Amino acid sequence: MTTNKEVKILAIESSCDETAAAVVVNGRDVRSNVISTQIPVHTLYGGVVPEIASRKHVERVNQVVQKALDDAEMTLDDMDAIGVTYGPGLVGALLVGVSTAKAIAYAADKPLVGVHHIEGHISANYIENLDLEPPFLCLVVSGGHTHLVRVMDYGKYEILGRTVDDAAGEAFDKVARAIGLGYPGGPKIEKKALEGNPDAIPFPKAKVSGNAYDFSFSGLKSAVLNYINGAKMKGEEINEADIAASFQKAVVDALVDHAMHALDEYGGDKMAIAGGVASNGAFRKAMEEACEKRGVKFYRPSPILCTDNAAMIGAAAYYDFMDGKRDSWDLNAIPNLKLGER
Ligand code: KG4
Ligand code: ZN
Repeated sequence: MTTNKEVKILAIESSCDETAAAVVVNGRDVRSNVISTQIPVHTLYGGVVPEIASRKHVERVNQVVQKALDDAEMTLDDMDAIGVTYGPGLVGALLVGVSTAKAIAYAADKPLVGVHHIEGHISANYIENLDLEPPFLCLVVSGGHTHLVRVMDYGKYEILGRTVDDAAGEAFDKVARAIGLGYPGGPKIEKKALEGNPDAIPFPKAKVSGNAYDFSFSGLKSAVLNYINGAKMKGEEINEADIAASFQKAVVDALVDHAMHALDEYGGDKMAIAGGVASNGAFRKAMEEACEKRGVKFYRPSPILCTDNAAMIGAAAYYDFMDGKRDSWDLNAIPNLKLGER
């Protein structure tokens, strides 16, 4: 997997509510990373509105791509390939990135490489950790996914467990809405939790029968909603900071427990995290401490590389490209694309 030549990839990401483009060299050297977020637009509606997301992507994608090239001080001619997220995600949103990437690749006569969004999140870890190579374990926690993954090799994954209901980020978003913090819930809960006591309310830790590595967060979310309704019915005032801190602790405990269980069973000396929830300070700290106790090296992307971005897609696209992966002009958006599927 070494090359003397610089392999330059223009990457595009539009699976949810960020329109993003980046130029990445040899998978780890990020020359530009442009993210145009739609969060202020969706905040008005309390969550992502798919139709609006698609429209905003259409409005912004060309400028975002041009800025990524300008920031990298390169042109399309300099690129070796165009990488793009083609799933999973919102179908209309994905289509904008996929169509743009196909049009650019066709017009500039460049190879096209479709990238799995979760593979992108995992690959964000390669960018700032030049020593990180598979195999390692990775806990991917985002708004749409909670996956405990064994990264066997570049592009080769074994999913040990996943959520059976809500994703961790989704639980953050729903609880934030319930306590009136608004969208997106993760960063708002994290901030509120700083003023609260994580041991104030003993929310239940989710138990899932069957696969020990599966997660469940809908029961926890219901427990928070029941707690709030119960307090309201009794005319008691609710302490939002204590709810935020106690809820966050319950999520973090469940995530760390599963990750450590996997380390115990599968061994290995490297553990990584990825996805929007991986930018959460309490989660990062708890994972770091637990890994340190076991003498396991802990990897996490900078917060800006945890939430959706195109640099991570460029990193993943590089390894796919070097592995010979090329997509044709019939590449389509696949909203429920499975990890490891080609
Ligand atoms: O990876 P991401 O940007 O998009 C998806 O692929 O889903 O993740 C977004 C999710 C949202 O649910 C958001 O609330 C959550 O990540 N999130 C956080 C934090 N920042 C973003 N959750 C907890 N703490 C945070 N600081
Ligand atoms: Zn994501």
